[in-house]
Amino acid sequence: MKPQIIQYCPLMPGLEAALAERFTVHRFFEDKDPEGFLARHAVAVRGFVTGGHLGLPPDLGAKLPALEIVAINGVGFDKVDLNEAKRRGIRVANTPDVLTEDVADLAIGLTIALLRQIVKGDAYVRAGQWLGGDLALGAKVSRRRFGIFGLGRIGRAIARRLEGFDAQIAYSDRARLDVPYEFEATPQALAARSDVFVVAAAASAETRNVIDRSVIDAIGPGGVIVNVARGSLVDEAALLAALKEGRIGGAALDVFADEPRVPDGFFGLPNVVLTPHMASATTETRQAMADLVLANLVAHFSGEPLPTALV
Ligand code: 8YV
Repeated sequence: MKPQIIQYCPLMPGLEAALAERFTVHRFFEDKDPEGFLARHAVAVRGFVTGGHLGLPPDLGAKLPALEIVAINGVGFDKVDLNEAKRRGIRVANTPDVLTEDVADLAIGLTIALLRQIVKGDAYVRAGQWLGGDLALGAKVSRRRFGIFGLGRIGRAIARRLEGFDAQIAYSDRARLDVPYEFEATPQALAARSDVFVVAAAASAETRNVIDRSVIDAIGPGGVIVNVARGSLVDEAALLAALKEGRIGGAALDVFADEPRVPDGFFGLPNVVLTPHMASATTETRQAMADLVLANLVAHFSGEPLPTALV
């Protein structure tokens, strides 16, 4: 008998095929009758495959008494209750490292897109506006002051890339780290010295809305915010208000508080660049993530150590 698992979101086709070979896969996200599904299958479900942005909703986890492993197709584990998993003896694995480069690349890309007006410039050409005159000037990226909020694997990869831009790099983290960048103990202090404030910290109860009005005002009209972490770190309403009132210079956002719903107040603003949570969305990286998801599941059900265990 193949172990039964829930697939909570679409995955790479190759991963879906590999899962189907080894497991009885319930494609929960396609089920029109989730309550009926749970009544029929919940007791038998031993594995749960999910995205970092989705995790395992606590009420759903509570309905899966035989659950042994949650395999996250992503590095973020903010939507999985690790303490509860420990308490229940459920293993949790994620996909660290393989997506670091892509997320860092997108942080740089968003920064350049925003300051150098790449999206605006593209629309300008397509709309034939160039015939009427040049686009207004943008802002420099090289040698700017960058503040990286969260200097973990992804934050460090962003900093390394920024060295190539001769940027002045500062950071905040739980404590000072052994790195050649300036440390600031609070997001407010980091914001006050940054032209570009990059959010790269993990989401947690501790970092929820940590980028609040005081931080946004410290970034100020001469600065911009770039977020490739999680929408939950930023007080989105405060950011939107600051953008509208000109209290912050701009924002480039790949993540939002309630994805895929984005407050439509952002859509009419000229000084924002918006992308659909796509920092790890390259074929190469999603393949590497898929390989890790499969490796963790196969290891678990073969009684082997998990390659990238969180719990
Ligand atoms: C993905 C992510 O969008 O790694 C994460 O935590 O948020 C992203 O890589 C997502 O997990 C894909 O399922």
